[in-house]
Amino acid sequence: MALLDVNGLSVTFKTGDGFVNAVNGVSFSVEEGETLAIVGESGSGKSQTAFAAMGLLARNGTAKGEALFDGQNLLTMKQKELNRIRSQEIAMIFQDPMTSLNPYMRISDQMAEVLTLHKGMSKSAAVAEAAQMLDAVRIPDAKARINMFPHEFSGGMRQRIMIAMALLCRPRLLIADEPTTALDVTVQAQIMDLFGDIRKEFGTGIILITHDLGVVAGFCDRTMVMYGGQVMEEAPTDQLFAKPAHPYTKGLLQAVPRFDVDEDELRTIAGEPPDMSRLPAGCPFCPRCSIAKDRCQNQRPEIDVFGDRRRACHATLDEVA
Ligand SMILES: Nc1ncnc2c1ncn2[C@@H]1O[C@H](COP(=O)(O)OP(=O)(O)O)[C@@H](O)[C@H]1O
Ligand SMILES: [Mg+2]
Repeated sequence: MALLDVNGLSVTFKTGDGFVNAVNGVSFSVEEGETLAIVGESGSGKSQTAFAAMGLLARNGTAKGEALFDGQNLLTMKQKELNRIRSQEIAMIFQDPMTSLNPYMRISDQMAEVLTLHKGMSKSAAVAEAAQMLDAVRIPDAKARINMFPHEFSGGMRQRIMIAMALLCRPRLLIADEPTTALDVTVQAQIMDLFGDIRKEFGTGIILITHDLGVVAGFCDRTMVMYGGQVMEEAPTDQLFAKPAHPYTKGLLQAVPRFDVDEDELRTIAGEPPDMSRLPAGCPFCPRCSIAKDRCQNQRPEIDVFGDRRRACHATLDEVA
């Protein structure tokens, strides 16, 4: 059984201007100890997919479908059980650690609180374990620095602290939403390395959400590409990079800076992401797609499975290549 199995997940927000269809029939799964990247431009529905699965949607949002954790549907379970799972089995970390860390509390107190609260540990045992976890996320001199305040750390170090905090209860699934976006490239790479270590050390399943396809290569087992709240394609990451099966993925890849390609050759995808309150009848990417046909305008492509990959596109694989 998959650790997390999401089936036909949809999210609709009610606004003054009508309904926003942020997520439209998204399915995917994550196995124990596996790393899945969810990639797409800003507004493609990545965060709301995760929020919906965790029962964390804004008040004007409704989710349909199912999100099975260990076979139990997170969308319909009792609040008490959902809270338990969210505090102990699934952890989420976000882009900006300063919004999640309390600036007025020492790291030792914030981290220990998690363990005294959820694991019933004594304060001193909790602080000792917290220091060990800071050590595990490679914070130098963790035993001494645990007594410092958040502002005394760099952005990269604060993100490590957030990760350590998320791991304290030994979650089986870690959802990281743009965890490295605010960081410089070198620190980004270090944090991605850290995710690899965590998965090896603790066997944690990881969902990494990012708008930057560049950070997932070499770190994530599989990559799922979203656009217009839908899955465009999913594949083992190396295969996706070697041979994208969707024109949108191809466009994203051409926009990823690479050492072996001249900066001038970097191409962004022309056009704008779709208005989620007025999604086209056909493929959402159609208006920006250079190989779109008439059919793409009127008929939404079904998800087509081939080998260990899947995609939603009317074009043949040769046409995409
Ligand atoms: N509370 C809300 N009310 C209305 N629309 C929302 C709300 N939250 C998010 N959205 C819309 O949902 C869409 C998907 O957002 P999101 O999942 O955050 O995108 P991203 O892929 O950048 O994480 C966006 O068009 C966003 O404007
Ligand atoms: Mg987001």
